[in-house]
Amino acid sequence: MEEAMDRLNRMQAEAVLGGGEKRIEAQRGKGKLTARERLDLLLDEGSFEELGQLVTHRSNLFGLDKQQFLGDGVVTGYGKVSGRLVYVFSQDFTVLGGSLAEAHAEKICRIMDLALDNGAPVIGLNDSGGARIQEGVVSLGGYADIFHRNVQASGVVPQISAILGPCAGGAVYSPALTDFILMAEGTSYMFVTGPSVVKTVTNEEVSSEELGGASTHASKSGVAHLTAPNEVAVIDNIKRVLSYLPQNCEETPAMQPYVPGDESRPALRDVIPESPMQPYDMRTVAEGLIDAGSFLEIQPDYAPNIVVGFARIAGRSIGLVANQPAYLAGVLDIDASKKAARFVRTCDAFNVPLLVLEDVPGFLPGTDQEWGGIISNGAKLLYAFSEATVPRVTVITRKAYGGAYDVMNSKHIGADMNFAWPNAEIAVMGAKGAVEIIFRKEIAAAPDPAAKLAEKEAEYAELFAHPYRAASRGYVDEVIDPADTRIKLIRAFDMLRNKTVARPKRKHGNLPL
Ligand code: HXC
Repeated sequence: MEEAMDRLNRMQAEAVLGGGEKRIEAQRGKGKLTARERLDLLLDEGSFEELGQLVTHRSNLFGLDKQQFLGDGVVTGYGKVSGRLVYVFSQDFTVLGGSLAEAHAEKICRIMDLALDNGAPVIGLNDSGGARIQEGVVSLGGYADIFHRNVQASGVVPQISAILGPCAGGAVYSPALTDFILMAEGTSYMFVTGPSVVKTVTNEEVSSEELGGASTHASKSGVAHLTAPNEVAVIDNIKRVLSYLPQNCEETPAMQPYVPGDESRPALRDVIPESPMQPYDMRTVAEGLIDAGSFLEIQPDYAPNIVVGFARIAGRSIGLVANQPAYLAGVLDIDASKKAARFVRTCDAFNVPLLVLEDVPGFLPGTDQEWGGIISNGAKLLYAFSEATVPRVTVITRKAYGGAYDVMNSKHIGADMNFAWPNAEIAVMGAKGAVEIIFRKEIAAAPDPAAKLAEKEAEYAELFAHPYRAASRGYVDEVIDPADTRIKLIRAFDMLRNKTVARPKRKHGNLPL
């Protein structure tokens, strides 16, 4: 037995060493942690159980027979995050660049299968050069096996991808199929093809950072949901995202402890500026409604005209979708529609109730938007809200104009409760635009057209620049004092907590992708 134990210990030590000390040093030199250090940070102490530590590749092509590593470049298993079961894989860049081939893929597939069978999240710590070139088509097959499982698991268990190194090819498509992508600034990149291929094909000179660094994906492409200055902070963000989500689609997110207190928020009466043209920060409104310190904004630097993120109200996890009047007047455009639609669907998949804060002048006009497909992209948000069956509550803080009134979680498309503040304006469009259309001839014929325009504008505002027409129809359930909004929301979400909706039988909907 002693001899057998020695052998086991030697093999385990070899597996832990990955690609060797020199490569580990090189990894550290780039400001990166090792695959196992990352797991230590992520998982509760002593909770990790490794699977497949002694698996190796089976190829002898291109000298691979002389480069066999126990574990084949990925550490897989299960453990606990804040006491909750999760399945994990952590790719080891020191072993053949973290590249993925047959055995490496089988290990990831195994934990994904376990996660699906047992209803717990999958967390991928990605650091990989993509398909292992030397193993050819089995590498591609391995990725496809993972992609297929990503899709089977989508909406069943949360899937979170951290990008912690240069990830190329298949190493970006698997994360793209998951619910959240988190990146480390300065050390992680995502691209389908790297800068050298770009140069060959398009003759463009571009650095890795510019092509696919964290800030590029946070602000330009919208691929990254969260970025952080280093790997420790990224791993912390994984834990925060998980804390708002349930283990699987059959469960609801865990409630956090909450002690009822004075829920009135008089400061909210002063947030909206006197002039309807003046911007304000919708985050100030949100902060007045949610539990202190509970906001985790998702994609903060992408399409800032809409704010999305997780928060808690009286300990209950909610997804916030809010127009942002401080940026482009909170208008809905292509990127904002895509961003919010995706978030709404994520929340709906995992039983996270939705709170919508609405101040929206409409959809952004112009050739850029029309030619870029604002019709089908705006429809994504309309579709996402319309199909969501979680509790859904809207608060109209100021403008709710045009199609955007319908789209932003109106009761017509299935919202459960719709509140409006007393200064809300619910109309087809703003006063000036409206009277210029409907009284064009009358204004032109008037001896003083400017005075006529002002008169008609005032008339229109009197008729429409308030929430009472909508309230008289029941489209708005209640016009409320802003100071009472938090208590109204606490009660509404509590009242809706057992909501269940039967959906028509179908294979799946056909959302306008
Ligand atoms: C085998 C790989 C590899 C790969 C990197 N390595 N990528 N080995 N297959 N795909 C190896 C390198 O040869 C090197 O080994 C070690 O990993 C470290 O790589 P470096 O290039 O030295 O590191 P770095 O400069 O940081 O660059 C990282 C990189 C680059 C940007 C990821 O290695 C790269 O561009 N790799 C190829 C990316 C790619 O095209 N992958 C295939 C995509 S196709 P040594 O022994 O020299 O240290 C794909 C299809 C899937 O994934 C399907 C998609 C739908």
